[in-house]
Amino acid sequence: IDRRYIRNFSIVAHIDHGKSTLADRLIQLTGTVAERDMKEQLLDAMDIERERGITIKANTVRIDYPAQDGHTYILNLIDTPGHVDFSYEVSRSMQAVEGSLLVVDATQGVEAQTLANVYQAIDADHEIVPVLNKIDLPAADIDRVAEQIEDVIGIDATDAIQISAKTGVGIPDVLEAIVQRLPPPPEGDAEKPLKAMLVDSKYDPYLGVVVIVRVIDGVLKKGQRIRMMKTGGTYDIDRVGVYRPAMKDVDELGPGEIGYITASIKQVRDTRVGDTITTEKKGCETPLPGFKPSVPVVFCGLFPVDSAQFDDLRDAIEKLALNDASFTYEVESSAALGFGLRCGFLGLLHLEVIRDRIEREYDIELITTAPSVVYHLYMKDGEMRELSNPADMPDPSHVDRIEEPRIKATILVPDDYLGEVLKLCQDRRGIQQDLTYAGSRAMVVYDLPLNEVVFDFYDRLKSVTKGYASFDYEITGYREDRLVKMSILVNDEPVDALSVMVHRDRAEQRGRAMCEKLKELIPRHMFKIPIQAAIGGKVIARETLSALRKDVTAKCYGGDVTRKKKLLEKQKAGKKKMRQFGRVEIPQEAFISALKMD
Ligand code: GTP
Repeated sequence: IDRRYIRNFSIVAHIDHGKSTLADRLIQLTGTVAERDMKEQLLDAMDIERERGITIKANTVRIDYPAQDGHTYILNLIDTPGHVDFSYEVSRSMQAVEGSLLVVDATQGVEAQTLANVYQAIDADHEIVPVLNKIDLPAADIDRVAEQIEDVIGIDATDAIQISAKTGVGIPDVLEAIVQRLPPPPEGDAEKPLKAMLVDSKYDPYLGVVVIVRVIDGVLKKGQRIRMMKTGGTYDIDRVGVYRPAMKDVDELGPGEIGYITASIKQVRDTRVGDTITTEKKGCETPLPGFKPSVPVVFCGLFPVDSAQFDDLRDAIEKLALNDASFTYEVESSAALGFGLRCGFLGLLHLEVIRDRIEREYDIELITTAPSVVYHLYMKDGEMRELSNPADMPDPSHVDRIEEPRIKATILVPDDYLGEVLKLCQDRRGIQQDLTYAGSRAMVVYDLPLNEVVFDFYDRLKSVTKGYASFDYEITGYREDRLVKMSILVNDEPVDALSVMVHRDRAEQRGRAMCEKLKELIPRHMFKIPIQAAIGGKVIARETLSALRKDVTAKCYGGDVTRKKKLLEKQKAGKKKMRQFGRVEIPQEAFISALKMD
């Protein structure tokens, strides 16, 4: 295929600005899918993705487009995950294409994820075509949003295309712009040794692992024996094809082309995003630059509410791991919660997605312990240890210093809420780095400790700004701070699943808040229960849950039989969600609620 008639591109947009709807329209208008097969959001294959409206795997589709110049072009769209947790995956997808459509909702304007994603596109040297979407809505303010694109992002928006992905207005212009304004792939050499980028992969129960590839040099063909340069695995290619968006086999994929291969690869773990694929014999010498193994940054414990379900939990996570190589898990045993799994994720959203899937698809109710980041402990003997579970914190007298991961957070917010946002960031130990305005919106950049963000920062941000703020972050590095482990004792027993790492200056405040919350959440027992927060052996906060008085129970047992039955049933259902700690029962929700910082 003549590379001059290929265009590879991605669509970058903030969530809900219309990326999927536009992709659907492009596919539909070019007749790639017969009208009767059209369903919403063709590219978001997984149910969970469709439901939550987020994409966590890259998808691709090949579209044939007869352009006004009389030639038929092949347009390859890569749909990338749009979320910060998957920024490395996004960067690889961006490397695999030469241009981007920048979609901005004309009623909303530029948001934090628009920025994060467009910077990725700029880093990948993309040609960028701005597209203003939702012009069918009366609230669309085309001039203002075009100006914002110029002011905030710094790209020319004079030729921004005005469209409605919903009604179809302007879609033909988008197709022409892809052909005319985006560059073809750079010249590759089909005669050279094979060099292809592994863009993403997913597990298919019938085909095994399906790998999305972008060919740089050489040709990919059925029957070839290939080698993954980073992981070293070798495989025989079974199928080569393209998504239209259904899988369709082709004879070969040459330089500049994007498609898929299958090669009896058993697990997604053997295929690493960003790896270079070459032939086993006479392969290329240097791999593509920029490969990074994905490293989990947020850890938490997952425990079944019903401890008899531990084996089910392990089966579920093993199945999920088939399709996702980026999370880690190992068996953990907690004095408080019994057997569970300690899992590592790329970020909070990633954690939520996996947890939801276990609960929903495998029907296992979970207790999730406080998410923790990875701390670097520099021991007095010179050793550096990574700590991802506060329960494993060694004796502090052996620790010289503790470093924690920091992030650069970018928040876009309407003026009116700026004060609230600054306060929130300040409360979370943030250091302001930048504050600029674009019209009536402010863009603030903060340096924040990741551990202050992993828990409920995003929820708080949304609530103090009534949902008007958008947020994005990247990890910038590690820095020392005065961090300590705080334990929680219920009825004088430490509950390991509730220990957290906190900044020393905030420990009293956090400890008090946690004890107060627990006091509300733990039902009263027949005896008095002390709830304490402690650092080392020193108690820094304390609440007491008073004993249940006799006449309160008496009330329940009087009256009519149905009411009593109902109460008993309720109690039983409640019991299932409780865990016994020594003599005290703690409800499941307490583990998460206790950590919320209101
Ligand atoms: P994520 O997949 O969540 O990242 O969102 P997205 O950017 O793909 O947005 P999506 O295409 O799902 O659109 C978000 C919402 O906006 C949907 O309810 C669409 O129906 C609606 N929408 C998209 N384009 C238009 C448009 O041109 N006009 C109007 N009125 N609504 C639109």
